Amino acid sequence: MADAIALDEDAAAARDWHHSLHSAVCDTLTPWEHGTVVRASRYPGYFDYNVVRVERDTQIGFAELAAVADRALDGLAHCRVDFDLAVTAERVRTDFEAHGWRATRLLWMRQRSPAPSPDGVLVQAVDYDAVQRLRVTWHREDFEITLGEQDSYSAQSRELALSRGARVLAVLEHDRPIAFTQSVTVGEAAEITHVYVDPEHRGRGLGTAITCAAIAAARGARDLWICADDEDRPKELYARLGFAPARTLTELLRVARRARSAPARPQTRNGAVASATTARLLVGAASTHVRPERTSVTTESPDVLNTCIATPYATTVLVLAGSATGLPENTV
Ligand SMILES: CC(C)(COP(=O)(O)OP(=O)(O)OC[C@H]1O[C@@H](n2cnc3c(N)ncnc32)[C@H](O)[C@@H]1OP(=O)(O)O)[C@@H](O)C(=O)NCCC(=O)NCCS
Repeated sequence: MADAIALDEDAAAARDWHHSLHSAVCDTLTPWEHGTVVRASRYPGYFDYNVVRVERDTQIGFAELAAVADRALDGLAHCRVDFDLAVTAERVRTDFEAHGWRATRLLWMRQRSPAPSPDGVLVQAVDYDAVQRLRVTWHREDFEITLGEQDSYSAQSRELALSRGARVLAVLEHDRPIAFTQSVTVGEAAEITHVYVDPEHRGRGLGTAITCAAIAAARGARDLWICADDEDRPKELYARLGFAPARTLTELLRVARRARSAPARPQTRNGAVASATTARLLVGAASTHVRPERTSVTTESPDVLNTCIATPYATTVLVLAGSATGLPENTV
């Protein structure tokens, strides 16, 4: 069996909080060779509670792990694998992405110092459903599909949030929510689970104001957690508000596409493939991948790909600069 992962105190506390949420909601927790499979039969469409957890540092490869996940999560529309150790996930990430999975490296952060005082923006408590327009917009931004009210993810995450007494705070403009946070408290710990600002209203302090308000509302919790994309900018915002890194975890998700059937992944004559959520360029030994919702590109070969533009759903476009590859521009 692979080695158990040694974690420092903060990382262990973050893992324990995360796992305690699974234990509270999931009705089956089944050990497998490298971790635990958790499933919540009441919430089969809620990805976060139907997961193959990889809890040890293992050399398992894409094909074997994907087969384990397919078997363990049989009958569900989605497939999800969480790695307790990001470095373990990095070994297989590119392969999963090439097969249409979406990879997110998350940074769990724990509040360590007080947040600055709120700055005069009015933040108010609202009903869960008051921010539905923003939830739909966020889901579309993240997954490039529309979250309808009938979606199982939408309905089941709502049911669970309401049953746990989730607290929703929002900024309203002309009675219309334009930013919101959602938090949950379980026992002595709390987590800010959502922070979202309408794209048209970003960059003017609303994200800071609503996060500060959520922190203030969680006063009294022994631990306060927030989870950020480790490869994106919000973690800097949270750090400014007193949160410190505790643990990284990588999620791999193959999401069901309900709204439209998934189109065939475009295959190009120089080896590039594009999928709905990831695009990957292979030219000889060079490999570059980009997620459409990002504006930045991670590349192992910056000479090969100078610009990579991904347009939403199914129309991913890769633009080759040409000079380094010897291929004419826009070959893809
Ligand atoms: C992250 C987010 C809430 C920030 O809201 P905001 O109102 O723009 O934030 P503020 O104006 O108070 O603060 C700006 C800071 O937020 C972060 N930020 C701003 N725009 C951002 C963007 N488009 N993407 C990511 N982070 C951003 C940065 O840290 C920024 O500081 P910087 O300009 O010095 O880099 C907003 O961009 C958003 O809703 N993003 C999509 C949802 C999301 O990623 N939520 C966080 C989940 S972890």
